[in-house]
Amino acid sequence: MSRIEIYVYIFLSLLACSSVIATVSYDDKAFIINGKRRILISGSIHYPRSTPEMWPDLIQKAKDGGLDVIQTYVFWNGHEPSPGKYNFEGRFDLVKFIKVVQQAGLYVHLRIGPYVCAEWNFGGFPIWLKYVPGMRFRTDNHPFEVAMQGFVTKIVSLMKSESLFEPQGGPIIMSQIENEYGPVEWEIGAPGKAYTAWAAKMAVGLNTGVPWIMCKQETAPDPIIDTCNGFYCEGFRPNRPYKPKMWTEVWTGWYSQYGGALPHRPVEDLAFAIARFVQNNGSFFNYYMYHGGTNFGRTAAGLFVTTSYDYDAPIDEYGLVNEPKYGHLRDLHKAIKQCEPALVSSYPTVTWPGRNQEVHVFRTRSGACSAFLSNYDTTYSTKLTFGNAQYDLPPWSISILPDCKTAVYNTARINSKGSDAKMIPVNGGLSWQSYNEETPSADDSDTLAMEGLGEQVNITRDSSDYLWYLTQVNIASDEPFLKNGQLPLLTVFSAGHALHVFINGQLSGTVYGSLDQPKLTFRKNVNLRVGINKISLLSVAVGLPNVGVHYETWNAGVLGPVTLNGLNEGTRDLTKQRWSYKVGLKGESLSLDTISGSSSVEWNDGSLLVRKQPLTWYKTTFNAPEGNVPLALDMLGMSKGEIWVNGVSLGRHWPAYIAQGNCGGCNYAGTFTEKKCQRGCGEPSQRWYHVPRSWLKPSGNLLVVFEEWGGDVSKVSLARRTV
Ligand SMILES: *[C@@H]1O[C@H](CO)[C@@H](O)[C@H](O)[C@H]1NC(C)=O
Ligand SMILES: *[C@@H]1O[C@H](CO)[C@@H](O)[C@H](O)[C@H]1NC(C)=O
Repeated sequence: MSRIEIYVYIFLSLLACSSVIATVSYDDKAFIINGKRRILISGSIHYPRSTPEMWPDLIQKAKDGGLDVIQTYVFWNGHEPSPGKYNFEGRFDLVKFIKVVQQAGLYVHLRIGPYVCAEWNFGGFPIWLKYVPGMRFRTDNHPFEVAMQGFVTKIVSLMKSESLFEPQGGPIIMSQIENEYGPVEWEIGAPGKAYTAWAAKMAVGLNTGVPWIMCKQETAPDPIIDTCNGFYCEGFRPNRPYKPKMWTEVWTGWYSQYGGALPHRPVEDLAFAIARFVQNNGSFFNYYMYHGGTNFGRTAAGLFVTTSYDYDAPIDEYGLVNEPKYGHLRDLHKAIKQCEPALVSSYPTVTWPGRNQEVHVFRTRSGACSAFLSNYDTTYSTKLTFGNAQYDLPPWSISILPDCKTAVYNTARINSKGSDAKMIPVNGGLSWQSYNEETPSADDSDTLAMEGLGEQVNITRDSSDYLWYLTQVNIASDEPFLKNGQLPLLTVFSAGHALHVFINGQLSGTVYGSLDQPKLTFRKNVNLRVGINKISLLSVAVGLPNVGVHYETWNAGVLGPVTLNGLNEGTRDLTKQRWSYKVGLKGESLSLDTISGSSSVEWNDGSLLVRKQPLTWYKTTFNAPEGNVPLALDMLGMSKGEIWVNGVSLGRHWPAYIAQGNCGGCNYAGTFTEKKCQRGCGEPSQRWYHVPRSWLKPSGNLLVVFEEWGGDVSKVSLARRTV
């Protein structure tokens, strides 16, 4: 037996032991489903980033766009919010999502992880995981491996019990263990290697009957397939000659951050990258994202990832097709599928007929022939002679000839019309009421007191973005500033991500970290009086980190030092004195976002409505606009906070303006990166916030906004998304 045959034999034997019939396997060319090699076109749609009511339409659009496979991560912190207490309801109804894909006749690639990165809060890990004694994430660590195995086994068992793996008649043809672990393993060395070996063995031992992959990990142990993630992957080679060449993340755009420009990847470059991958033996590619969707609630990851996860994907955040991206890729898929018989049963013969020209011909013994003609010149078009004909190729483009004669597609020639997406305001203003959030102080009864400053997440366990740090300072009557007017200087160092400082209940100032630097410093002269002064610091987290070696050790909140300068004694260090803590806002504990909670307090309206004040709650009710066009809230005029509709969080709002000059040119040919072709300079990073139709009743919908900083609520309005 050849090495390949031995391998296939071992693989089949493994499957035989688990008493399922092997119908999914692979060889060096491709995935093999029911004995047939397949070119598989896949797209990422993450189920919690839309609603179950949107799933059938999204998946139908994916199918109409020429996809064979839907890929999704599995979101551990959504499914196991506390140890052993599982949630598979609503947006987290994973089984339902997979069945919707199955009903559409598509396959599933299930990326169990359970580390998922994904710009998702804490990379998908539940916060309680960090507090399991002895825990170290993603390394050769027993508590971590026990927890990871528990969750992966739970998911695999659930899939098996619903007969969702392909050998059981289900749609799942492949799974993923871990995620982009290669760079971490490389950095941490031996414990990383041991962990990889453990994870691979654990996963394979679950006998799913379908292959496992590990993406961005050259060391993936057999039989696990290592795969590529990136903007381009034509040069990627799997780590063994008997594994297929797969691209698990073709980046269709990029995520956006508050204050960051809006990423855009031109579809010409995307189509070019894919055609180039396929002509170089690639047989599986997956769009990350095909539909990006929305980071509802507080699911967006740390460091300012926006509530919108649109990603410039072929289907936009609202579920509408993003043209010409969607149509141009659909046409590409059609052309590739016409080549499938030749692609799966031959290797390309490569020739170079002219400068910057390249020709790949796939010719089978049975007579099938398909060709890819490339022009790698980034500036000039070219005339390429192939067979007895001449072909015109625009710069940086590939033509596809399924029969080696007719160019049915060129990656740079777009036939689909661009879509002109618009937000149309819904008529009729909203009538608002306001409620002032209280500023607590250290002597309140419902606070937790301790000596010194505590780390924010340790105290909140991420139950809220907000943590109050409360203390008092006593000012003697002989302090010089009382006479000379030179107010004392308060300095507060925070690990992030935002801070509002109140002195005796009055806002003294606000500081935010930046995209590159979450740490921040507040430094300001503050107005103190003789006797006891209340210092109340509201520290705000904007999501937990989702990436980086041992990101579980990263801190948030006021870790100090906190000092007062300009007193008789010089500098007074407040860092180690007694501090009291209050987790979350009063409005959160009263559930002001719900109908019953919101009627528990007195709201102001009319002339008493509060405007442009920090820490204010607003509420209104509205009727669902007619029809079923997607809806959004226009938050222009507001500053930062969170939005709820009928008690469900739409996400954090923060229109944060994008600095002029952040949007560079769009000369992508050859080297696209997430920094190129960005848009939106001079505008807010995110002005509109998706309001899913299915969250609304015909009338009397409760809309609640918490505003941290101060905004003009009269400017908030509903809009319809149309193309
Ligand atoms: C395609 O795969 C074959 C077999 O591994 C290899 O010899 C050849 O170089 C590959 N061609 C390209 C263009 O990558
Ligand atoms: C975490 O917070 C608790 C109080 O909630 C405190 O007793 C403990 O010392 C803190 N641990 C760390 C590591 O900061």
